Amino acid sequence: LITRAFRSQFVIPDFQDFIKDIEEMYWTAKSITDGKVASYIPQLARANSDNWGVSVCTIDGQRFSIGDVNVPFTLQSCSKPLTYAMALETLGPDVVHQYVGTEPSGRNFNELVLDHNMKPHNPMINAGAILVCSLLKSLDKPEMTLAEKFDYVMSFFSRLAGNEVLGFNNAVFLSEREAADRNYALGFYMREHKCYPDKTNLRECMDFYFQCCSMEANCDIMTIMAATLANGGICPITDEKVLRPDSVRNVLSLMHSCGMYDYSGQFAFKVGLPAKSGVSGAMLIVVPNVMGICTWSPPLDPLGNSCRGLQFCEELIKRFNFHKY
Ligand code: DON
Repeated sequence: LITRAFRSQFVIPDFQDFIKDIEEMYWTAKSITDGKVASYIPQLARANSDNWGVSVCTIDGQRFSIGDVNVPFTLQSCSKPLTYAMALETLGPDVVHQYVGTEPSGRNFNELVLDHNMKPHNPMINAGAILVCSLLKSLDKPEMTLAEKFDYVMSFFSRLAGNEVLGFNNAVFLSEREAADRNYALGFYMREHKCYPDKTNLRECMDFYFQCCSMEANCDIMTIMAATLANGGICPITDEKVLRPDSVRNVLSLMHSCGMYDYSGQFAFKVGLPAKSGVSGAMLIVVPNVMGICTWSPPLDPLGNSCRGLQFCEELIKRFNFHKY
């Protein structure tokens, strides 16, 4: 890092100027009062609408954070690209995609629907993520108990985040599990259609999915994960090779086409970057070969994306040439 600094070889050489733009965009988005915090899970309804944080981390480890970047939030659906990445890494894409497709569903994230092969459409919606959890549980180190598997996944996520330690919100987990009629319906519907590998214990698999949604981190931690994805799978903070480049390509492709719920097509058109949102109001945004970004603000638009996060991304594309096309 220091050698590159002396030679001015950073991917964003004028980082101080860049920070000024991020600050302006942060304050503009802060004044937005649109949106409602998610309330379908009682514990999520307790989120504070005023929280707003933005963290960036470049592929060469330059970092900047502004706002509520140290306040923990639950990963929710931002865990979906991470569990998918882990499944690709441990099982390989051929095995994973025997069970789950790569097509946007064009429907809500928790819609009771499978594709024409009777597989979940993709790993970024609930059905696909529940399926990926079953693969991680039943095919990769199947001898592990659920407790051991939880630790195993946590430490994998932590490696993506430069060895930062993630938390777990038990109240959200319990609330999530209590309010999960739709997810159970999806789980049983997939069992009816023999979507899971043999020996899948559905109750364990559902608990595992709720646990992944209830893991906790903050913007500062999540931005490192996004930066690892931006950097071809090598964590810019530890230099550890956490993911193979082909796993990263698959994860980013599906974040690009399916990561923003039913707004994914419009987001791909307007912003042109792979991203994933979660109902806690977090967004992971990847500028490939440049940087990772994490934004967090709980109020959501009717499609479930963070209002401030979306406005921030649209402004980012106006100011910088980051749109893929
Ligand atoms: O209801 C659920 O399954 C959620 N806890 C998942 C959350 C989420 O962010 C929705 N995403 N696709």
